[in-house]
Amino acid sequence: MSSRQLLIVWHSRTGAAKAMAEAAFEGARGAGDVRVLRACDADSDDVLGAGGYIFACPENLATMSGEMKEFFDRCYYPVLGKVEGRAFATLIAAGSDGAGAQAQIDRIATGWRLKRVAERLIANTDAQTPDEILAPKTLDEAILKQCREMGQALVTGLEIGAF
Ligand SMILES: Cc1cc2nc3c(=O)[nH]c(=O)nc-3n(C[C@H](O)[C@H](O)[C@H](O)COP(=O)(O)O)c2cc1C
Repeated sequence: MSSRQLLIVWHSRTGAAKAMAEAAFEGARGAGDVRVLRACDADSDDVLGAGGYIFACPENLATMSGEMKEFFDRCYYPVLGKVEGRAFATLIAAGSDGAGAQAQIDRIATGWRLKRVAERLIANTDAQTPDEILAPKTLDEAILKQCREMGQALVTGLEIGAF
């Protein structure tokens, strides 16, 4: 474990946020120390062992998805007061909005006293009808490129001690 390690924690129901997390991992790999974990597999030791974070999940019912929320519920108090000042960024997949999930993660990050080091990135998949919402998602290359760049920027910043 290293304080320069980037930890990417993700949840996804139909593939969009997973693709964002994987793209961030791809961008970070080779530029530094990075781990990617599904939210249900990540625990407070994983959070404490990293120096920075990318949280990736969909918006479901105007909130972050349940599995991602459960990760924060499990880890919030074991980690509170022990990660202050560490870097974070977010990747949100949404049908048309994403602001609710974004705001929830921002509030938790404020509680942990994390420092946002990359602009908010919300990918709107334009899923409106039940069939569209339940369908597997494919994201535009332009979005995936931004995710790769975010992963690379965070891991590089951690490597050089910029954050
Ligand atoms: C139960 C459920 C609730 C959803 N609620 C919202 C919502 O409140 N706002 C929104 O923009 N999209 C909503 N969506 C759409 C998803 O955020 C969108 O399809 C997103 O791309 C899914 O990401 P994923 O493929 O990583 O699961 C919802 C989807 C589901 C399945």
